[in-house]
Amino acid sequence: MARILITSALPYINGIKHLGNLVGSQLPADLYARYCRARGHEVMFICATDEHGTPAELAAAKAGQPVAEYCAEMHGVQADLARGFGLSFDHFGRSSSPQNHRLTQHMAGRLAEAGLIEEVAEAQVYSPADGRFLPDRYITGTCPACGYENARGDQCENCTKQLDPTDLINPRSAISGATDLEVRRTKHLFLRQSALRDRLDAWIDSQRGWPVLTTSIAKKWLHDGDGLQDRGITRDLDWGIPVRRGTQDWPGMEGKVFYVWFDAPIEYIAATAEWAEAQGLPEDAWRRWWRRDQGAEDVRYVQFMGKDNVPFHTLSFPATLMGADHDGTEPWKLVDYIKSFNYLNYDGGQFSTSQGRGIFMDQALAILPSDYWRWWLLSHAPESADSEFTWENFQASVNKDLADVLGNFVSRVTKFCRARFGEALPEGGAWGAQETALATALGARIAAYEGHMEAIEIRKAAAELRAIWVLGNEYLQEAAPWATIKTDPERAAVQVRVGLNLIRLYAVLSRPFIPDAVETMMAAMGCADWSWPEDAGAALEGLAPGHGFSVPEVLFRKITDEERAGWAEQFAGSRG
Ligand code: 2FM
Ligand code: ZN
Repeated sequence: MARILITSALPYINGIKHLGNLVGSQLPADLYARYCRARGHEVMFICATDEHGTPAELAAAKAGQPVAEYCAEMHGVQADLARGFGLSFDHFGRSSSPQNHRLTQHMAGRLAEAGLIEEVAEAQVYSPADGRFLPDRYITGTCPACGYENARGDQCENCTKQLDPTDLINPRSAISGATDLEVRRTKHLFLRQSALRDRLDAWIDSQRGWPVLTTSIAKKWLHDGDGLQDRGITRDLDWGIPVRRGTQDWPGMEGKVFYVWFDAPIEYIAATAEWAEAQGLPEDAWRRWWRRDQGAEDVRYVQFMGKDNVPFHTLSFPATLMGADHDGTEPWKLVDYIKSFNYLNYDGGQFSTSQGRGIFMDQALAILPSDYWRWWLLSHAPESADSEFTWENFQASVNKDLADVLGNFVSRVTKFCRARFGEALPEGGAWGAQETALATALGARIAAYEGHMEAIEIRKAAAELRAIWVLGNEYLQEAAPWATIKTDPERAAVQVRVGLNLIRLYAVLSRPFIPDAVETMMAAMGCADWSWPEDAGAALEGLAPGHGFSVPEVLFRKITDEERAGWAEQFAGSRG
């Protein structure tokens, strides 16, 4: 048994997330957390809303609400939707929590002690038309690296380059569109990441088996162009964590807050502290996950995120944690494995929050139960390349994989047994060659499934799980108990017992993907034993003759062509 710390990139507070956001962090993190728990590991699975920065301010202004009120409300909405999708966080925190205020200020103080913070008189963009300094995200322009015309002042969405707004070509105000922008001077704090370049480089080199996507993005920002740039970590905003040096005031920084990307990853730790407090546990309950001198030495820490988040997690956040341990007295836990994702596109274009394009979490749950979405999204996770949601593909996956392969198997076996033997596993008969062959094939496939899950190869794991479902159908088709029963009822009894045991086995194996449907399967099998199969043969005899069961409701219904067409039309425009 191991201890596994899992974090999902924190969703921004500004509005309901779309399915592209979901499949790029929270959902695969949940899959992995559920799998690790199923294998008996001790898991801490953390997520939170990312509540600071300009997106939050902009969204609150648009909603006509004070920003704190807006965030509290949206946190509730996102927490409900997370529950709706079965996301099994141990804690879903808030980056605006008092814990994060304290810890962020503490980290900044430690970095200052280490000489890693520089006070810089900075040129900042001021918009006379808007009467204010424009934070990064309020400025758009052309990316100097790739020429993309709608790059934001903090990062180019197209090529992932981290930017400063002054880097943009033809910058304009995102508020008013004004182009008469001025540059004025104001003082800000910079994190001297460049001083940690060699340590970061060596640390990344020492990581084994990280996905190519993760390492290539990290290496690119370490070595390309000017290499690792120092980053401004303060902003002129009202909403955020006030700049303090530990518990002390920071002269000259009055009225400024930390940059959202400084405090957001620190919230991974602070959210674990929120969890401990919510559980009524002492400080060491969270420290044993995060401090290598207080029990986290043997923790394996895995992060999940979209590719645009990789530079912050491979460079800036580790720089914060390494810098905070400058004197060896605060050995914070660094990430062991970063699972990053490409983008999911929607029907020939991009999912877009700002344009309301695609399917959003609330809309998805309003039309179908979460397992339908979980299965499609996970089995099509954008791992090696971007992937695309189309209604045709969604309909085909649901109807084939879930309804025909899995659902139909469950229905056929349970209904046949009820009709011919009654609602208990039938007695008599002994295993033959078919059963032994099935157990062998299952054993091999389950081992492959475990391998893919451990490697967090999600599409491969989904394909293997589907193949495991198919094995049951093939067995049933060959064994044909509806024919056998006419000549050899004992043989049919064996076949039906194996079929019913397969249902329990499928429930256990499929739980990380479709946690709700498997509850129905398990309840129908009159069983509460979720133990992972150590041996496929033994698992096929787990439920003994005489054990009662019932025929479940239809597990998965098919999506009709009319529904598909209707939804395609309903979601063709933008969200109102
Ligand atoms: O890109 C995003 O959606 C960010 N809110 C992710 C933050 S991850 C972490 F560092 F907090
Ligand atoms: Zn670019």
